[in-house]
Amino acid sequence: MRTARYDAVTAVVEATHLKKRYGRFTAVAGVSFNVMAGECYGLLGPNGAGKTSIIRMMYGFSPVSAGRMRIFGLDIERDWRQIRARIGVCQQDNTLDPDLSVADNLAVFAGYFSLPAARARARAEELLRLFALEKKRTAKVMQLSGGLAKRLMVARSLINEPELLILDEPTTGLDPQSRHLLWEKLRALRKQGVTLVLTTHYMEEAAYLCDRLMILDYGKVLVEGTPQSLIKQYAGESAIEIEGVDEALRKYLIENRIEHDVLDQRIIVYAEDSVAEDLRRNFCMERCTFRTPTLEDVFLHLTGRELRE
Ligand SMILES: Nc1ncnc2c1ncn2[C@@H]1O[C@H](COP(=O)(O)OP(=O)(O)O)[C@@H](O)[C@H]1O
Ligand SMILES: [Mg+2]
Repeated sequence: MRTARYDAVTAVVEATHLKKRYGRFTAVAGVSFNVMAGECYGLLGPNGAGKTSIIRMMYGFSPVSAGRMRIFGLDIERDWRQIRARIGVCQQDNTLDPDLSVADNLAVFAGYFSLPAARARARAEELLRLFALEKKRTAKVMQLSGGLAKRLMVARSLINEPELLILDEPTTGLDPQSRHLLWEKLRALRKQGVTLVLTTHYMEEAAYLCDRLMILDYGKVLVEGTPQSLIKQYAGESAIEIEGVDEALRKYLIENRIEHDVLDQRIIVYAEDSVAEDLRRNFCMERCTFRTPTLEDVFLHLTGRELRE
């Protein structure tokens, strides 16, 4: 596989004050971020946050309403053809050709990149093997389970050996086996120098795969950083789940300005270890769970717990 032609300080994607409007509705409200060569960058956010809108602008499916996007240092509108040849895209929805076989889906797609026939065949074989699709080569896409179709979508996005791979919810709906297979493949690609941009609803996945990520909500960036730094900054050293919503505890948390979320039946406190000790002594009459905070804590704490679209 081809490796990236950049050194580590080159930005592969540069988005500056990016906006997307659909009529009078603003879905992306001025988002800036850089993705550096060889890193895996995550876009996280609740449904409707604007992730897919950003991704679609990245692969030229949807025009930028305002702001600027450069990929490989090239202008996304002016230099689109050059960019297209060097990126791979796995869209959120199934865009496979349902009437064609698994192998033919890869072959037809290779045609869009004008790969020489022999090279296209070899590449398709390699991808069928890599994504454990060999036994399905003659199956019609219509007959594939959701998980297999998704694997084929990811395989297809790699046909042109892209330097930048863009994946919109690549593991949604996958069983654990397929999801782990995909994680390993994505990590292997990153190791080979491929730059990855992905969206996901799975915080465990983001923490495992992403070097850096942003959490978006209502078209705006809430935070950006490494998973570890975000956990440290927004969820502290300990997460303490305390059963029952006790008024004395609430008062203590507010007076001491300790980050916490109040749920129906319990309070989750994000705190330093010293505070955790205080809570253990004074407020853990009933059931208390002490655990290591996760990216999911950060996500829920920042975006809230009410249901979205
Ligand atoms: N083509 C469109 N026309 C009008 N509104 C859209 C269109 N695409 C997306 N939206 C709206 O823009 C917002 C962001 O959508 P999207 O980018 O798909 O979010 P996400 O991928 O984070 O779930 C949502 O409120 C969605 O309903
Ligand atoms: Mg989406």
